[in-house]
Amino acid sequence: MVASNVQISIERDIVMELVHVAEMAAIAGARHRGLGDKNGLDGAAVDAMRAALKSMPIDGVVVIGEGEKDEAPMLYIGEHVGSGSAPMVDIAVDPIDGTTLLSKGLQGAISAIALSSRGTMNCPREMVYVNKIAVGPEAKDVIDIDAPPTTNLKNIARATGRPVEGLTVVVLDRPRHEQLLADIRAAGARVKLISDGDVAAGIQAAMPDYDVDVLMGVGGTPEAVLTAAALRSIGGAIQCKPWPRDDKDRQLAKDAGLDLEAVYKTDDLVGGDDVLFVATGASDGELLKGVHVEGNVVKTYSLAIHSRYGTIWRIETHHDAGHLGTAGHSP
Ligand code: FBP
Repeated sequence: MVASNVQISIERDIVMELVHVAEMAAIAGARHRGLGDKNGLDGAAVDAMRAALKSMPIDGVVVIGEGEKDEAPMLYIGEHVGSGSAPMVDIAVDPIDGTTLLSKGLQGAISAIALSSRGTMNCPREMVYVNKIAVGPEAKDVIDIDAPPTTNLKNIARATGRPVEGLTVVVLDRPRHEQLLADIRAAGARVKLISDGDVAAGIQAAMPDYDVDVLMGVGGTPEAVLTAAALRSIGGAIQCKPWPRDDKDRQLAKDAGLDLEAVYKTDDLVGGDDVLFVATGASDGELLKGVHVEGNVVKTYSLAIHSRYGTIWRIETHHDAGHLGTAGHSP
């Protein structure tokens, strides 16, 4: 529930504070780039994010954490963060989305975090995975997670004024998507397979300037909330639905009273008027450049999106390595 009597909106000046949080997580994670230690880098990013969040002028509760999927380190659901002063906010975090990418020295890893007014974030958290579809503003009203891929693609094509053959669908490269890929290709659309990182991919699908138009397929549940937070301002849409892997997941859903047929739309995942999303590149990627070290300067590249102002900031920060508390330890 939104505590309306004490609710104070998420102001513009919080943007840079949140950018700092994502930057610190990206820098910490990037120090482990290519070292093959997925949990080590995630742990470093989690610690850096937690430390940076401490001084943020918010009364925050982590409602969307990450880590259950592969028992990685995490900011815990229910964890209180911030200095304790208003505004009261829900927080969704993914200190590194693309831990495997970063541990292998590959492109496309980001740090992501979102804030919205208290009580406005929601997802089928008992489920590790959800089935997703995400698009940009032109097609936001025509997607339907319950419809077959062909139907969605035809409707998206009509809404965007393009032939189905002109659409590219970004999909995580996983065995579970065999049928989905066959369906997309049978409809005539192109596929772009990614090995990880469906938050960045969902954002790219919703923005012009990129070579993808739609995100489809099964991915992490926390990642769906973060994508929704970003799309709230971009004007795109995401829909998702619980995706139980097996009977154990189905039982878990039953015990939690979760409706496996429920469809979560953008506003269900992140509601309210005030949504702030920030991502910082950890390794170079199409959406964001990664952490770069030039002498004593550590450069980071971030994207900040605020729903109330409909503003998208692209921020390049030059950090003095000495002030990062890690002088001489290049990321
Ligand atoms: P991590 O960085 O937490 O490993 O997440 C990467 C990711 O590719 C997400 O972007 C995506 O939602 C999820 O993993 C898919 O899960 P899985 O790798 O188990 O198919």
